[in-house]
Amino acid sequence: MDKKSFASDNYSGVDPEIMNALIKCNIGHAKAYGEDRYTKKAIEKFKEIFGSDIYVDFLYNGTGANTVALAAMTESFHSVICPEQAHINTYEVGAPTKFTGCSMVGIKACDVGGKLKVERVRDYLKISMGSMHHSQPRVISITQPTEIGAVYTLKEIKEIADFAHENDLLFHIDGARIFNAADSLNVGFKEMTKDLGVDVLSFGGTKNGMMFGEAVIFFNTELAKNVTYRKKQCTQLNSKMRYIAAQFIALLENELGLKNARQSNNMAKLLAESVADIPGVKMTNKVEANTVYAILPKEIIPILQEKYFFYVWDVVRSEVRWVTSFDITKEDVFDFAQQMRKILTKKQKAA
Ligand SMILES: Cc1ncc(COP(=O)(O)O)c(C=O)c1O
Repeated sequence: MDKKSFASDNYSGVDPEIMNALIKCNIGHAKAYGEDRYTKKAIEKFKEIFGSDIYVDFLYNGTGANTVALAAMTESFHSVICPEQAHINTYEVGAPTKFTGCSMVGIKACDVGGKLKVERVRDYLKISMGSMHHSQPRVISITQPTEIGAVYTLKEIKEIADFAHENDLLFHIDGARIFNAADSLNVGFKEMTKDLGVDVLSFGGTKNGMMFGEAVIFFNTELAKNVTYRKKQCTQLNSKMRYIAAQFIALLENELGLKNARQSNNMAKLLAESVADIPGVKMTNKVEANTVYAILPKEIIPILQEKYFFYVWDVVRSEVRWVTSFDITKEDVFDFAQQMRKILTKKQKAA
């Protein structure tokens, strides 16, 4: 068995309750392509959360969810405005652009937290809106929590939603870690999205205990008109849909998803608290979800990575990123912190 790590919430295994749900739904045959009873039930679950006036679809992965969402919202001469570090702009190998034809326009985000600021979007609209030489702005997309692990407040989301609609734009949220944001804000999914004016939400499952699978939720159901065809074009139409749906049913039942997110968020906080006073460690973000950033002496990084693997975020600053998964325990965190303390104290003594 591989050791646990602080590399990514994609490194963790599958929550046992989700695995059970997969095993249970694996009996017999079921209609394909979403016509099965599990998919119907999962859609009902989402409707219980968000209200019946939504359109829900299920996809294989986060890149697919974002791509299908954006494809449903745009035409090829449009652009999607997002913070420059947005996953759609940096880590999806241009998938949204390939399938939509749209430019992703990365706007410089806030230095702290990586949040989008509407003033900066306004400046961009001035030069692009109505200009025959620019892709026409159509969507504002943000990630909640941000790639830097900050969580937009309800007020901030509302401000972006209002700004988008005042400027004839649509509003998309990449919620690959939406459970972590919900736990952090301590509000319901509907209150933090639909009620604030979000048009389309990519709703993540994989990073919070599922084996695979994400949902896309259209609050603006007009936009979902052709989504089935977009999904097929983007190769995201899952024939054995029951396996994604059954996982979502389990994740949404008995608040399993929220419990998982609470665990990963709490462990991130504990990790930050446990290492903050170690000489040589400089914390660089306020921990609001399940991601922790810190600057470490360069030479200790490979030694620590041997114990628990994690990624270097910024080589120049020697800044690392630790991500906690739902299955990280206090013992894992304390052990990691202790190892770090030992290595750094030894280094200090030797200096
Ligand atoms: C914020 C965010 N959005 C989307 C994705 C894409 O997910 P996937 O790797 O399943 O395509 C990721 C993956 O790490 C992510 O962090």
